[in-house]
Amino acid sequence: MTIDYQQILEDIHQEIQPLLSQGKVATYIPELSKVSPQHFGMAVYCLDGRSYMVGDAQQKFSTQSITKLFALSLAFEREGNAIWKRVGREPSGNPFNSLSQLEYERGIPRNPFINAGALVINDILAQRFVQADIAVLQFMRMLSNEVKIDFDREVAISEEKHAHRNSAIAHLMKDFGNLHNPVDSVIASYCRQCSITMTCLELAKAGSFLANHGTIPWSGNKILDSSSAKRLNALMLTCGTYDVAGDFAFRVGLPAKSGVGGGILALVPGELAVCVWSPGLDPAGNSLAGVMALELFTTMTARSIF
Ligand code: DON
Repeated sequence: MTIDYQQILEDIHQEIQPLLSQGKVATYIPELSKVSPQHFGMAVYCLDGRSYMVGDAQQKFSTQSITKLFALSLAFEREGNAIWKRVGREPSGNPFNSLSQLEYERGIPRNPFINAGALVINDILAQRFVQADIAVLQFMRMLSNEVKIDFDREVAISEEKHAHRNSAIAHLMKDFGNLHNPVDSVIASYCRQCSITMTCLELAKAGSFLANHGTIPWSGNKILDSSSAKRLNALMLTCGTYDVAGDFAFRVGLPAKSGVGGGILALVPGELAVCVWSPGLDPAGNSLAGVMALELFTTMTARSIF
């Protein structure tokens, strides 16, 4: 049976309307607090090149932690399994910016999707590239075939000015010998990386190689082998939505990565990538309407990995 994705997106758009006023926009990065919580966009990018959109699917938003997925993909592609000496693969069960585990786990972050882990990945990329943030930006441009993707300088500066917690995390890891570059340069690069703005459609297209066993569907260019792509999908499922990844798997049942800008990129392996954006967040920092939209999506399409 063919699925009418356009109709499904429109039905979801209707259904989530009452939720748009319930989420809280992130305020700890002041620039993000200026965005209206009323936005909602959703895009599906199928591996055969078809795409479907609803609402604000072509409006740029702050991708934030979704960039951690692309930074990890790039580091994994370049360094292979060596990265796991410096970052773990277990859910943290703690908020994404928590410091507590790092102390008793001797500066090795639980996974690459919490802030500590993403700082280590940025540090790894800085050994390989002149600038880690620019390498991630160029990688995301290449994957989405879109040159008009860029940093948002205001968001990057706003985050860097308020980066006390991330700086503390970086200093602790530096003390344990798990950060090789200067703390300030890693923080600045990480803040710029997180400030990359993209649309739902661009993100779904950029992420589609991970739904396609590591090969970009529209170009045939192999980024990762299928075993590595499987591993990144597994990490998205277990760690991609902060300390509520279990509940997300329960409700949605797809590998996904979220960001505090309100975006969530999810994959239906072998079929499609879907990205939703709505800036109002739930208490864990995931888009409140976005999680519900993805739950409706997997329910209506009967497409989940379970
Ligand atoms: O470091 C931060 O807090 C933000 N730049 C990104 C946070 C985010 O999206 C969720 N973190 N995993």
